[in-house]
Amino acid sequence: IQKIIIDADTGIDDALAILYALKSPRLRVEGITTVFGNIDVAQATDNTLRIIQLAGAPYEVPVAPGADKPLKRKLEGFSTNVHGANGIGDAVLPPATQQPLAEKADDFIVRKAGELGGELVLVTLGRLTNVAHALAKDPALAGKIKHVYVMGGTVHAPGNVTPVAEANIWGDPEAADLVFASGLPITMVGLDVTMKTNINRQHLDFLQRTCREENRAIVDFICASLPFYFEFYRGSNYFIDSAPMHDPLTVLVAEEPGIVVNQTMHVKVECESALCAGMTVADLRRNPIVGAPIQVSVDVDAERAVGKMLAAFI
Ligand code: BDR
Ligand code: CA
Repeated sequence: IQKIIIDADTGIDDALAILYALKSPRLRVEGITTVFGNIDVAQATDNTLRIIQLAGAPYEVPVAPGADKPLKRKLEGFSTNVHGANGIGDAVLPPATQQPLAEKADDFIVRKAGELGGELVLVTLGRLTNVAHALAKDPALAGKIKHVYVMGGTVHAPGNVTPVAEANIWGDPEAADLVFASGLPITMVGLDVTMKTNINRQHLDFLQRTCREENRAIVDFICASLPFYFEFYRGSNYFIDSAPMHDPLTVLVAEEPGIVVNQTMHVKVECESALCAGMTVADLRRNPIVGAPIQVSVDVDAERAVGKMLAAFI
């Protein structure tokens, strides 16, 4: 069993990723930290608590609120065009009875890394701001974490906010640069693979037809929230009636690393240029000298990934 902390800016695909993780017998969610991004951090925290309640997790999952803005840059607004004003595609969930922790996300990560003695796996689904703050608080943190699966960046695929930058890295390039250079063992699950794992309307119909009664509320939520995501991807000329499962795939990789093919690459995050801010620059030369070596997911067994996502909710 992998002991994970999920760091999320709980939007539509984050919500699915959290639901998947809470259902997985191979993952134990030690806590969820929240960060600004798709929506503001208060909304991300509220969404997270509601999603945990919806999942009916058989154990307690503490939620620690985190950063409300990037490390150095001014906040550029939120992705409500992608995720809806409430971040979960206008789907309505009952208010949660659970309260967030008073402890902040970075302190929570530092404490858990210490307590779990090298067993903690981090899965980041948003800006890397909380992890950057945690590294600043505990300079030895990189040596205490087993692995970090980062949803973010891209090497070969185009960006999704600018021609070269993916949203989670673009939203706080300085934080991402710090994390990538920290010595933390990282797998970058970026657009190179997440754009290949799509859920579509037929999949939703299948869930609705086949799910067990105990999963009905979850499936109803998924079917209420994903259409907003489909509309965005349709408008952006990417896909029709389907959407890539960026964040769920990243949780899947933490659960089953062999579902992707990784390559070791030296990667550095561009922080200077206005045109290329947030670009994950891979030094693919024979003798790379720019950036730090990390694992980059370059291919995925998409059929298996989508199959596992659906199977979790029926
Ligand atoms: C990432 O950006 C957010 O909109 C999604 O939740 C995902 O984490 C994809 O670029
Ligand atoms: Ca996200």
